[in-house]
Amino acid sequence: MTRDVGIIISAQKVEHYEIAAYGGLVQLAHTMGLEDVAGILHETLEEEKQADVLLTEIAEHNINWEAEHEEM
Ligand SMILES: [Fe+2]
Repeated sequence: MTRDVGIIISAQKVEHYEIAAYGGLVQLAHTMGLEDVAGILHETLEEEKQADVLLTEIAEHNINWEAEHEEM
């Protein structure tokens, strides 16, 4: 379980990187007047946010607690 905590944290690092990247790209697309592209990128941005929320839920409602009670 302790390893799973580390895996989830690593996955969340990736999601946060993706959120930053897609957030910047959405703004760039708006600036360039590419509203169709901005819309597609925004959809992807929202998917990345949902993945982060799901990972947080898994950690808070399950894995972190189990790891805390794991025998060493
Ligand atoms: Fe992702």
